[in-house]
Amino acid sequence: MADIKSTETAPNTIYLKDYQPPIYLIDHVTLYFDLHETQTVVTSNLKVRLNPDNKQTNKALLLDGQNLQLLSIKIDGQELTQFVCDEERLTITSVPEECEVEIKTQINPQDNKALEGLYLSSSMFCTQCEAQGFRRITYFPDRPDVMSRYDVTLSGDKKKYPVLLANGNLVSQGEGENGKHWASWQDPSLKPSYLFAVVAGDLFVKEDHYITMSGRKVLLQVFVEHENSHKCEHALISLKQAMKWDEDTYGREYDLDIYMIVAVNDFNMGAMENKGLNVFNASCVLASPDTATDADYYNIQSIIAHEYFHNWSGNRVTCRDWFQLSLKEGFTVFRDQEFSADLNSRAVKRIDDVNVLRTHQFAQDAGPMAHPIRPDHYIEISNFYTVTVYNKGAEIVRMIRSLVGNDGFRKGTDLYFERHDGQAVTTEDFVKSIEDANNIDLSLFQNWYSQAGTPELDVTTIFNEREKKFTVSIKQSCPDTPGQKNKKPFHIPLQVGLLDQDGSDVLLELADDSLTSATTQKILQLKSEQQDFTFLNVISEPHLSLNRGFTSPVKIRQQHSNDELAFLFAHDSDEFNRWDAGQLLAINTLLDLITKVQNNGELAIAENVINAYRNTLTSRELDKSLIASAFTLPSESYLADQCDVVDTDAIHQARKFMRLELARSLQSEFKTVFNNNQSDAAYLFEAEEMARRSLNHVCLSYLMCLEQEETLNICLDQIEAAHNMTDVMSALTILSHYDNESRQRVLDAFYKKWKDDAQVVEKWLSIQAASDLPDVLTRVKALMKHPAFCITNPNKVRSLIGRFCAVNIVHFHAADGSGYEFLTEQVLALDSINPQIAARLLQNMSRWRRYDNKRQGLMKQQLERILAKKDLSKDVYEIASRSLND
Ligand code: TRP
Ligand code: ZN
Repeated sequence: MADIKSTETAPNTIYLKDYQPPIYLIDHVTLYFDLHETQTVVTSNLKVRLNPDNKQTNKALLLDGQNLQLLSIKIDGQELTQFVCDEERLTITSVPEECEVEIKTQINPQDNKALEGLYLSSSMFCTQCEAQGFRRITYFPDRPDVMSRYDVTLSGDKKKYPVLLANGNLVSQGEGENGKHWASWQDPSLKPSYLFAVVAGDLFVKEDHYITMSGRKVLLQVFVEHENSHKCEHALISLKQAMKWDEDTYGREYDLDIYMIVAVNDFNMGAMENKGLNVFNASCVLASPDTATDADYYNIQSIIAHEYFHNWSGNRVTCRDWFQLSLKEGFTVFRDQEFSADLNSRAVKRIDDVNVLRTHQFAQDAGPMAHPIRPDHYIEISNFYTVTVYNKGAEIVRMIRSLVGNDGFRKGTDLYFERHDGQAVTTEDFVKSIEDANNIDLSLFQNWYSQAGTPELDVTTIFNEREKKFTVSIKQSCPDTPGQKNKKPFHIPLQVGLLDQDGSDVLLELADDSLTSATTQKILQLKSEQQDFTFLNVISEPHLSLNRGFTSPVKIRQQHSNDELAFLFAHDSDEFNRWDAGQLLAINTLLDLITKVQNNGELAIAENVINAYRNTLTSRELDKSLIASAFTLPSESYLADQCDVVDTDAIHQARKFMRLELARSLQSEFKTVFNNNQSDAAYLFEAEEMARRSLNHVCLSYLMCLEQEETLNICLDQIEAAHNMTDVMSALTILSHYDNESRQRVLDAFYKKWKDDAQVVEKWLSIQAASDLPDVLTRVKALMKHPAFCITNPNKVRSLIGRFCAVNIVHFHAADGSGYEFLTEQVLALDSINPQIAARLLQNMSRWRRYDNKRQGLMKQQLERILAKKDLSKDVYEIASRSLND
């Protein structure tokens, strides 16, 4: 029959410059699934048509396919015998300009542990097709610029799979033979194959409805396993909030009559925006006060919104190719960030988002995996669902909004949605819509899409007292990144304010800009390598507050004394910059302590630093959540990024010392705040209550540094008596770092109580993986043998192994290399199970050049060991080879 070829070569690199439109389009797809755990048969009927936009002379029909067993192919009813089929695709050379192709394939969902395509998760069938999973279901041109209408019929055992779901509307259903039943679904919208989904299982459904802005009634459904029936409420509330917000903010209305969300236990990412049928990682949708923390509630609200927002930014207007991923992800993250900011505390949201960007994205931008938000080459696209494409991508959209203003931005997005509805487009199309709607030129701005690396700004100021002029000089540069040298300048908007000696905002009068009205904030636009901005009529030397609200994703180098930082920490009217001044103060203090630890110097913290923190803790005007954020010192990994050669032990000791010193000096203040903040009220997911709980957590964790019996007892009581998971987790996390006799007892009791709740067990694992105890790796290894752990479940892998490597950096980077060897063993094991998860784990070792010679050697050796594995996945190959070759 088919001519099966197998080639043994290094994986191919795909380049953006090689993009060609598809040769054939598929207008219509009819799919029939005969569901079976190990032998599902998929019959696909494709209406194929030559693409008039493709000018290539070679007119072969290329159908992607992976791990498929081909049963038969027919063209216009005729059995086909002339085709080439290899491990990646089916090529048919002589195809009529218009025809019908029928393909039967067989797949094995139960053996599918990569969790791409159709798989079984806790006895339910579900699919994950983004980015290239549809090709594991049937042969198809599996690329987002092929958009089709889908008719789908599912047939399966009625007892085991009473619920049968697919995209769009249910059009008919009925009984079959041998205890089977079937359901047919029709999706009226045009969609790319990556948005296809089916689900089959024995599921509970919680329903609600939403009336759209034009008065249409939409049925909302959340499908979960029966034991989770009480955990759907928050998801439904969040969904309705998201639907309303998108109408109010972007004028976007939902388009189908039904919106379904399904919770699954085994999932590679957070959630997936399949048209009308979102599939969610159970941990990103299920919540009840006794099992989910404030952070979980917050996260669920934003992910539900994120997937909902994709209906416009991603589904109706989709990506031409996967290099354009940030078109939908960057924009949608920006949309969900603003949604969360509008519904909760805006300042806290910005601080959290900037923390993620600085700790993870800046690190990626400075390492071997650095790539522009629109990458220009990849081996495995799954490796590019990154903080760069998502979070830096969101910052790029945010800067565009800063440049054109809120109204201009709305005009731009209106034009974008109208102009490109139903199309697969590029990031240039997005920028062009904003330009056209605002009549401006963003060509220089485009460098943000094509250049990797974090720009650095050197800032100096001069005050001319006689002329009452204050001049800010800014010089921009961007470090080389793999494959990119000598970057062109970026177009950088910077919100700026000046404070007088009392800490009040000054009215700004910019030299070249005298026509605009006087305000206390302005946006400076940096467009060249070096630029001066002069403020007029400045009476006395002001304090500069630059990049307010983190307008641009840049690093700023400015010489600041601790007194200057303490002043801004106390007075800046921009809440973000106020917090940031505190962080800079902490970083200066910690970097100094790190050097002292390394030189065996005497450790001490200056009185003015302690006082700045005391003033913050006792402030009456500051929001509780902002106080809590101020007392959250920069993480160990962020500190590591500020060092030339990373010394994880010194970082750990320095940070611990600073926390202990703050606890010693502010002991009574922490106790007072903690006591004043107690409450017996029932759990409420609400900004003020969350702020109260987080400040309490901060106080308790500082007090615990003093290792007093009294604090230990408060922790134990809180674990026992609290009626919400936030307070329980808070105390349990604090306790987990101290080796006392209650620790193990409490952890055991916690497990016993919650062993049947997957989400709580994940928390139990991650607490232990992040613990400060000396023998933590031995404990992590033991936990891998515990019934709570399962290597094929990504959430369990992330909670235990992922957290150990990413958060517990002292132990992961142990000098004997035991952490590296452990990670390598897990990556090698997972490579054959779930390559996406294996590749993600491996990234913890990609920045090996930042450590001392001995550690570099140890990590390099492990990376080479990984590359030597036979049949290594593309995913892991790409990370390991880029890490070594940079
Ligand atoms: N598009 C999804 C999102 O909302 C991302 C995603 C979900 C994904 N599952 C995936 C990406 C699996 C790659 C592989 O962000
Ligand atoms: Zn997304």
